[in-house]
Amino acid sequence: MRQQLEEIRKNAEAALGEVSSLEELDAIRVKYLGKKGELTAVLKQMGGLSPEERPVVGQIANEVREYIQSEVDNKAAQLKSAAMDAQLLNETIDVTLPGEECEVGHRHPLSIVLDEVKEIFQGMGFDIISGPEVELDYYNFEALNIPKDHPARDTQDTFYITDNILLRTQTSPCQIRAMEERKPPLRVISPGRVYRSDAVDATHSPLFHQIEGLVVDEGITMSDLKGTLDTLAKKLYGPETKTRFRPHHFPFTEPSCEVDVSCFKCGGVGCSMCKGEGWVEILGAGMVHPKVLKNGGIDPEKYSGFAFGLGLERLVMFRFGLDDMRMLYENDVRFLEQF
Ligand code: PHE
Repeated sequence: MRQQLEEIRKNAEAALGEVSSLEELDAIRVKYLGKKGELTAVLKQMGGLSPEERPVVGQIANEVREYIQSEVDNKAAQLKSAAMDAQLLNETIDVTLPGEECEVGHRHPLSIVLDEVKEIFQGMGFDIISGPEVELDYYNFEALNIPKDHPARDTQDTFYITDNILLRTQTSPCQIRAMEERKPPLRVISPGRVYRSDAVDATHSPLFHQIEGLVVDEGITMSDLKGTLDTLAKKLYGPETKTRFRPHHFPFTEPSCEVDVSCFKCGGVGCSMCKGEGWVEILGAGMVHPKVLKNGGIDPEKYSGFAFGLGLERLVMFRFGLDDMRMLYENDVRFLEQF
């Protein structure tokens, strides 16, 4: 039996010398030390030994078991650390490599300027409101003193959904909605998209943005209009900026004007931006027509007001020196990332 035990020890030692994976190692452990293993088989025969021999053989058997067990443990530790080393080698991270740049987006130029305009008006006590882009004919035209046969409709021909519903051609319907919803004193601006059936070119688009403004209170005069819009121009384009109010006609204001600012690129001398004029037009404005006040439920005998409509695209184009409006809609990142 001693010989048998010695044999087992040698065989186990040889097998452990060749083992190369944890699975193989486990198979060896089962083969030698398991319940049905070789060592157990030998120990079962111990009953046939003489009382003198039994403790001696028992001790040898224990030694063999301990030896195999500790070799299996050593081998397992070795295999595990080798596997870890291999994994570390494969998965190395070179922390000295330059990082991958993560591009951060930013606001669109239209939003940048709109936010500025909002801030300027909020500073003057205006509330910011909004109105529907799909609008009733009544608010877009009728209530603004533009009846069905009025020629002003032709220049703003739009996308009709039904005879009475259309995509709004201007933000002015927000004037009526604001008067219906609020009581004077009233100071609001209403920015948003407007639609006209215009073909796309460098200065036209069927979709663009306006910012409507409306002030109604007792004793509002043309000088309030001028002061407010002059402040806007100076805050937007710098304190040197001059404004010019030219007589004009809008059905919903009386008197009406168009407002120019001195070209902020050349300071009024004349350049390519202002087409040599020294001035650029940025908005239409006027004193709210008494009929329009009435349509908004406000007594024109007691109250007066002024209104204006800014074209956001124009403001942005002058501000950043763009000569083609289409760039604002094409979403070319080479253009957009410059702001
Ligand atoms: N709604 C006018 C336009 O689109 C602009 C405007 C607004 C004029 C308010 C006067 C008062 O041209």
